[in-house]
Amino acid sequence: MKALQITGYGEIAKNVEIREVENPRIEDDQVLIEVHAASINPVDYKIIEGAMRNIQKLSFPAAIGFDVAGTVKDKGTNVSDFNIGDEVFARVPTHSPGTFAEMVAVDHQAVCQKPSNLSFVEAASIPLVGLTSVQAFQKANLKAGNKVLIHAGSGGVGSFAVQYAKAQGAYVYTTTSTKNVEWVKDLGADRVIDYKKEDYREIAKNVDVVYDTLGGNYTKEALEILKQGGRVVSIAGDPDNETAKELGLNGLIRFLMKLKRFKLDQLVKDKNAYYKFVMMHADGAQLNDLKELIENRYISAIIDQEYPFSKAIDDLEHVKNGHTKGKVVLNMKLS
Ligand SMILES: NC(=O)c1ccc[n+]([C@@H]2O[C@H](COP(=O)([O-])OP(=O)(O)OC[C@H]3O[C@@H](n4cnc5c(N)ncnc54)[C@H](OP(=O)(O)O)[C@@H]3O)[C@@H](O)[C@H]2O)c1
Repeated sequence: MKALQITGYGEIAKNVEIREVENPRIEDDQVLIEVHAASINPVDYKIIEGAMRNIQKLSFPAAIGFDVAGTVKDKGTNVSDFNIGDEVFARVPTHSPGTFAEMVAVDHQAVCQKPSNLSFVEAASIPLVGLTSVQAFQKANLKAGNKVLIHAGSGGVGSFAVQYAKAQGAYVYTTTSTKNVEWVKDLGADRVIDYKKEDYREIAKNVDVVYDTLGGNYTKEALEILKQGGRVVSIAGDPDNETAKELGLNGLIRFLMKLKRFKLDQLVKDKNAYYKFVMMHADGAQLNDLKELIENRYISAIIDQEYPFSKAIDDLEHVKNGHTKGKVVLNMKLS
C-alpha cells in the first residue's frame, strides 16, 4: 500500500515522502481500516519538525497521521463491536499513528461508527479536535451558564469548541481575525472578538473558563480576565508539573518548565484559580458521545480544504501556515 512516511526531523518538504510499504498486520484487539479520509493537525508538522521528540522519539522511517474515517476491512479475534464493512472514524492512539496511508490498523477501543450524516471527509475532521475539546472542558468543569473564552474560534480546535461549548449551554466569547468574524458568529458564538481591531481583555472579563489554544503570552493573560477561582485549560501553553510527569518528561526538562512557569504559577495562586495543560488521548466511547451531538445537529464539521493524497505535503504546509478556517483534510479517494 502507499503510506506517507517521515524520513527525518526538519522541514516538511524534505522529510516526508509517499512510499510503497507492507499492508499493516492487525493484532487481536485491532481493526484494519481502509482510509477514505484523514485530517491534518498541527501536531503532524510539529512531529516532523522534531518539536515533540522529548515526548515521543521517532525511529525512521516513521508513520504519520492520527485522524481517520474509513471502512473496516478486517478485525482481530478479540473484536466483537465492529464488523467488516462498517463505516467508522477514529483518533488513533498516540503510540500508533499512521492514518496518512491507504490502510491503518487501530485498537478497536479508539474507534467509533461514523456519524450517519457526515461524509468520510467531514468525519475525519472531527476526532482529534473533538476529543481534545471534550477532555479540556471536562477538566475545566464547564457548566451551563458559565462564561468561557475560546481562543482562535476559526481554527480546527476552536471551530469545534465553540459549537461544543454552546451545546453545553455556556456563554461563548471567541477571538479571530476580521475575515473570519461573520462565519465564526454563525457557529453560535455569543461574542466574536476581532483580534485585529479589538483587545479581547477589554471585552471578555471575569470569565469562568479560558480555553487557551494559543499558548505564549495568552496563557498568562488568561489569568487577567479570569474570575477569582476560575479555571484555565491550555492545549498550547506550558505543561503543569503533573502533566509533564505523565508525559514522561525527564527531571531536568520538568525543572526548566517549572522555572518558565514561575509567573504563571504565581498568578494562578493569587487568583485561587486552576490551571491544567491537557494532552488529549484517543477514546472511542467519547467519540460515540460526539457522534450523537453531530447526528442531533449540535455540531457540524467545518472543512477549509481537501487535498488528494498526492498533495499531502501541500496539505501539511497549509496547516503549518496557521490560518486555516476549520479543518484541512486528505481525501484518499480524490485524484
Ligand atoms: N494538547 C493537545 O492535546 C492538543 C490537541 C489539539 C491541538 N493542540 C494545539 O492547539 C493549537 C491549536 O490547534 P488548531 O488545530 O486549532 O490549530 P489551527 O487550526 O492551525 O489554528 C489556526 C487558527 O488560529 C487562528 N489564530 C492564529 N493566531 C490567532 C490569534 N492571535 N488570535 C486568535 N486566533 C488566532 C487563525 O485565525 P486567523 O487566520 O483569523 O488568524 C486560524 O483560524 C495548536 O498549537 C495545536 O498543536 C494541542
